[in-house]
Amino acid sequence: MTDFRRTRALFHIPDGVIYLDGNSLGPLPIAAVDRVARTLSGEWGNELIRGWNTAGWMAQPRRIGDRVGRLIGAPAGTVAIGDTLSIKVYQALASALELTPERRVILSDNGNFPSDLYIAEGLIGSLDAGHILKVVAPEDVENAIDGTVAVLMLTEVDYRTGRLHDMTALTRKAHLAGVLTVWDLAHSAGAIPVDVTAADADFAVGCTYKYLNGGPGAPAFIYVAPRYAEIARPALSGWMGHEAPFAFDLDYRPGLGIERMRVGTPPVIALAALDAALDVWEDVSMNDVRSASIALADLFIDTLEARCPQLTLASPRDGQKRGSQVSFRHENGYAIMQALIARGVIGDFRAPDAIRFGFTPLYIGESDVRAAVDVIDDVMTNRRWDTPEYRTMAVVT
Ligand SMILES: Cc1ncc(COP(=O)(O)O)c(C=O)c1O
Repeated sequence: MTDFRRTRALFHIPDGVIYLDGNSLGPLPIAAVDRVARTLSGEWGNELIRGWNTAGWMAQPRRIGDRVGRLIGAPAGTVAIGDTLSIKVYQALASALELTPERRVILSDNGNFPSDLYIAEGLIGSLDAGHILKVVAPEDVENAIDGTVAVLMLTEVDYRTGRLHDMTALTRKAHLAGVLTVWDLAHSAGAIPVDVTAADADFAVGCTYKYLNGGPGAPAFIYVAPRYAEIARPALSGWMGHEAPFAFDLDYRPGLGIERMRVGTPPVIALAALDAALDVWEDVSMNDVRSASIALADLFIDTLEARCPQLTLASPRDGQKRGSQVSFRHENGYAIMQALIARGVIGDFRAPDAIRFGFTPLYIGESDVRAAVDVIDDVMTNRRWDTPEYRTMAVVT
């Protein structure tokens, strides 16, 4: 059994805060402070350029990729880390399209994160080869998979509602129709059990700043199924993905396997923070995280619905059909969330009307859920959100 009291003590949660936004940005793992300080002073400060060899900076993406891989069912040597998730989406989609040259349709859904759809549009424009992006409702994805589709590109957990796709079933259906899959695991990795091998995913990508607690702007990851690792052509053929970066050849030759999905210089300091954040997972069972998160979210839904009928559940009621977040709708959702944040209950808002709460058992327990519901009840019952200051939209919602 995972000891969630132990894991909770590994995070810095400011006094007076109930943090229900780990689905957007995980909190600070206390050990990351020392780790980053050591990387700055001990490694960068003292080693200077030598750090690339003496401090293992060059091997970081591969080593930390393997650590993330263990959390998503990826064998060693199949995950690379670096860049932002949008870039990893581009790489995965571009490689997948090249592997299905006779087809022209990219199939996705309107629950996908907009950046993934924007990236697909941009790539289609650059390829100028007649590809189209077909976006259907999440429940229509299965029926839209047919022999015209080149790539099925989906985010497993809907960022607004938490609705969960059946990755294994959709991948199976895709493969039967000769379709390759690109799965975005941004809201899955560290939130729910993921097994890219068992699901037979072709490509998977995700970020590390949400449930993996790597810090703001922490680098993203890409998984390539071993069957494609040596044949997928990297669209972003940067020098770090070259077979021999320090040969400084004038021609590009892709690196071995997943190494080719590296692009440029690794973000050493950010990777040090992520490495420390991944230590938290050493004695954690993802199945325990999943059952605890469902129990917390169920408790939240039941108590909130009983006390705040003004809020409408926007997430699946069945915990098995949700990721690790719960959303409620209200036309004044933005102001409500500002009032909650001012009272220490931190979630977030997603346009047009969803207030979103993440349930992360590593540092959130039942008493937090009950205390959060008390605050929400007070904000709703006493219309504490109804002031001009809470209606002014910030840049980040
Ligand atoms: C599902 C999903 N895909 C892509 C992105 C974009 O990630 P990034 O800003 O790291 O490129 C996000 C960001 O939250 C996301 O949630």
